[in-house]
Amino acid sequence: MTCDTLCEPTYLSGFGNEFASEALPGALPVGQNSPQRAPYGLYAELLSGTAFTMPRHELRRSWLYRIRPSALHPRFERLAQQPLAGGLAAANPNRLRWNPRPIPGEPTDFIDGWQPMVANAPADRPAGVSIYLYGANRSMQRVFFDADGELLLVPQQGRLRIATELGVLQVEPQQIAVIPRGMKFRVELPDGEARGYIAENHGAPLRLPDLGPIGSNGLANPRDFLTPVAHYEDTQGPVQLVQKFLGEHWGCELQHSPLDVVAWHGSNVPYCYDLRRFNTLGTVSFDHPDPSIFTVLTSPSSVPGLANMDFVIFPPRWMVAQNTFRPPWFHRNLMNEFMGLIDGVYDAKADGFLPGGASLHGVMSAHGPDAETCEKAIAAQLAPHRIEQTMAFMFETSQVLRPSRQALDSPYLQADYDSCWASLPSTFNPNRR
Ligand SMILES: [Fe+2]
Repeated sequence: MTCDTLCEPTYLSGFGNEFASEALPGALPVGQNSPQRAPYGLYAELLSGTAFTMPRHELRRSWLYRIRPSALHPRFERLAQQPLAGGLAAANPNRLRWNPRPIPGEPTDFIDGWQPMVANAPADRPAGVSIYLYGANRSMQRVFFDADGELLLVPQQGRLRIATELGVLQVEPQQIAVIPRGMKFRVELPDGEARGYIAENHGAPLRLPDLGPIGSNGLANPRDFLTPVAHYEDTQGPVQLVQKFLGEHWGCELQHSPLDVVAWHGSNVPYCYDLRRFNTLGTVSFDHPDPSIFTVLTSPSSVPGLANMDFVIFPPRWMVAQNTFRPPWFHRNLMNEFMGLIDGVYDAKADGFLPGGASLHGVMSAHGPDAETCEKAIAAQLAPHRIEQTMAFMFETSQVLRPSRQALDSPYLQADYDSCWASLPSTFNPNRR
């Protein structure tokens, strides 16, 4: 049996464990990984996402049983079109904010539609995290893999149908997808166009945060992370395979679909998650907990508690804090914050931060609610109220994020972001406590 057309995605449930799936009965070898003859004449291939000798709970690796081994490819050539060219701009300590970028007018597929925004390190020395916007108006006719990092895709508009080596994921705005480093995939656009955000994680693979005193429930629950079932394409004919390698695109032409994995097992898997299932926690007395209470996924560094990268969301929720300034407080942080807005309005900003837009607040840059939001919060009659229709997020990293030249030259960069705080008055009166 062949399966040339994509079926509707179905999923295995779980996270952080070993998964297994086979598209043909008995395709998965039993009891060993690399038998002399794999079932159905398949080739066994290992895809390692971590070094072999990492502690067991940090290991990510999968065994793939495929029609042709990935090694069957001609030489990669550097592509003439390099959408990520331009590099990083000079370091810039300013608070920056961008208006939403329209979906491209020219025919653009998912991999040509990345705009580099900020990064911890130059593309040819990838480290920490690199952040992009994507915008596309045609389905990929080719297959892609990213040798530089794990990809966290955050759709803001339009669904993504992602055919990976291990099966098909489909995500819509308010859902996310994570693709392991090196995994081959093709992005199709069921709605004809799409845009959103990408975090390219060069560090330890994303995982659920520890819960500490919160206990064994809450935040993102493991059962809500879904990984696809095996699905293969047994097709012949030219297919371009493109890889991102040290920031550049290289391609070669195959004579078969590289999405030909019939069975697989392991822990190095793509997965998706619906942000609306996040069990949001907060104060039931006064003051806010730190925003780490909103962490969905984290990539740890070698220092306990200091993330290489956190993915944090600000979903709809009840605000009940007594005698409390309820918007996010004014702050200056060690961490560097790249924010985006998937839907609605963010409760710290009255205007100027729009769905599809973005902002950057770097290490020790002072920020918080804008003047209008602050004034309203101080005057508000406090009663329980629910923040509806909102979904903001943050890619947060311990290393400084430098803007790309493309982002600084972008016509969507706001010239006057600082002005949103400019009218904050002094209300100090030494004679009135
Ligand atoms: Fe902040």
